[in-house]
Amino acid sequence: MRTFTEKSLWDVYARCYDAIAVFQPYQEMIADVVAEVPVQPSPRRVLDAGCGTGNLTQALLTMRPDVGEVVAADRSVAMLRRSRRKNPTATHLQVDLDGELGELSGSFDVIVCTNVLYTLADPHHSLTMLRRRLTPDGRLVVTTPIARVDTKKIVRQHIELRGAASLLRLVLPLIVVALINARIVRTTAYHFLTRDQVCELLGTDAVRLTYSDQVWLAVC
Ligand SMILES: C[S@@+](CC[C@H](N)C(=O)[O-])C[C@H]1O[C@@H](n2cnc3c(N)ncnc32)[C@H](O)[C@@H]1O
Repeated sequence: MRTFTEKSLWDVYARCYDAIAVFQPYQEMIADVVAEVPVQPSPRRVLDAGCGTGNLTQALLTMRPDVGEVVAADRSVAMLRRSRRKNPTATHLQVDLDGELGELSGSFDVIVCTNVLYTLADPHHSLTMLRRRLTPDGRLVVTTPIARVDTKKIVRQHIELRGAASLLRLVLPLIVVALINARIVRTTAYHFLTRDQVCELLGTDAVRLTYSDQVWLAVC
């Protein structure tokens, strides 16, 4: 069961979350996920489940203008507010992915869900609910952090690719991000999964690493 503090954590995180969007490994994860959205036929509807501040939604709208509708869903009002500002053409909905998804109408050709699963009360339940919203040939693309995530590797790879100067103006928000992440990693309610656990949960072997090898990417 999530406490009020856990739920409101995401509203606080929304204020500084986009500091991580600057990281090259994060951008690579977003590009990897967009590349898994089928091209033929063009998806009619795509759901970004747990859209956060809308970085993946933005990439979908920009890189895949052929997609009919992008629906961006999140439980956090503060996250949704930021995503709406970035993505005025997307449909935004407040949805609790721990629930039965009654807030969503219709079905989706593709559901993308990046770095959300580990935060959910019961990932198996949420995946079952999401799968019910897929069209018969629909595709689910999920990313979720590895069991012993090492954020230092992400920072190191970013600095190798883009230089330390690219982070200077972000020092303050990055300190807040680091504090929030340290809290998340310590809290046993979150689910950091091994590859075998991801394969079993999603019922697929199509699982690989992305985001400086700190995040699983599963396609099913
Ligand atoms: C780490 S962020 C990932 C955001 C975005 N998908 C990305 O990759 O940048 C996790 C997101 O999951 C959302 N979230 C957590 N629990 C949720 C729930 N029960 N229902 C809907 N969204 C939830 C949070 O509000 C937050 O926006």
